Amino acid sequence: MRPSIIVHGGAGSGKYGRTDKRYGGMIQAVEAGITAMKKGSGLDGVVAAVGFMEESGLFNCGRGACLTAQGEVELDAAVMKGDALSGAGVGNVTCTYHPVSLARWVMENTEHVLVVGDSCADYAKLAGLKTERLVPSKAASKKYAVMRKDAEYSDALRLVKKFRTGDTVGTVAVGSDGIPAAAVSTGGRWMKLPGRVGDSAILGAGIFADGKLGAACATGTGEEIIRCALSMRACQSMARDEAGAAAKDAIAYISKTRGRGNAGIITVDLKGRVGAAFNTEAMGRAWWDDVKGRAVARI
Ligand code: GLY
Repeated sequence: MRPSIIVHGGAGSGKYGRTDKRYGGMIQAVEAGITAMKKGSGLDGVVAAVGFMEESGLFNCGRGACLTAQGEVELDAAVMKGDALSGAGVGNVTCTYHPVSLARWVMENTEHVLVVGDSCADYAKLAGLKTERLVPSKAASKKYAVMRKDAEYSDALRLVKKFRTGDTVGTVAVGSDGIPAAAVSTGGRWMKLPGRVGDSAILGAGIFADGKLGAACATGTGEEIIRCALSMRACQSMARDEAGAAAKDAIAYISKTRGRGNAGIITVDLKGRVGAAFNTEAMGRAWWDDVKGRAVARI
């Protein structure tokens, strides 16, 4: 089959236009993914697309990540491929801007599905990734200073309540082998408590991929997405519905049970049809349009 891919650049950051760098960034991420899938698998495609977004510094992941209540960068990521429910997540990563590649290494080289904290530095070295101290971007440092000045929110436990959404990035794809795959990467939520791990490290919540159903990847408030097992829920809908209807079902469920303004999701089914839905003001997403022969984006 012809490869199919869709990426999102996060739900909840408000609408932005074609001239915004994030618009072009999503298009380039799709191009990176489709190029990788010409020679490789769906998994190669999703890791390439998310890896591009981590490196770009434009999104809440990798070099552009948001900061914890203590002003630090702590990253979460996961990958999953649908042939045998293979997958792994990594949490509280403070040693590499590319936690998605670390998650792939954990999936392919260990028995585990979740690794968190300081030990990630050892695994990153084994994975051959460049390890370094993660420095907040200039934009993130500026935003942090403004947030911290607000006396009303001077303590961390109250601060995190104000900044609910996590503009995670993610991708789902089906490669020419017909196997669905998903990848996700994030800085989490602004002002999160140090040590907090969100949905993006958790299989079934932030991502899911099942060779008999399809793949899904969520964005938004991690705690609500975990409660609803949102990506698993969207995949289960694909047993009866196409990708677009499955995405809408999942968002209808989280809106009904946990309220609005907390999530977005992208999906791909086994026929390569893609879907997207969100209950936030906007969610940047881009996909490969086979008829046009190019990537297209919507906010
Ligand atoms: N969805 C990103 C997070 O809440 O960690």
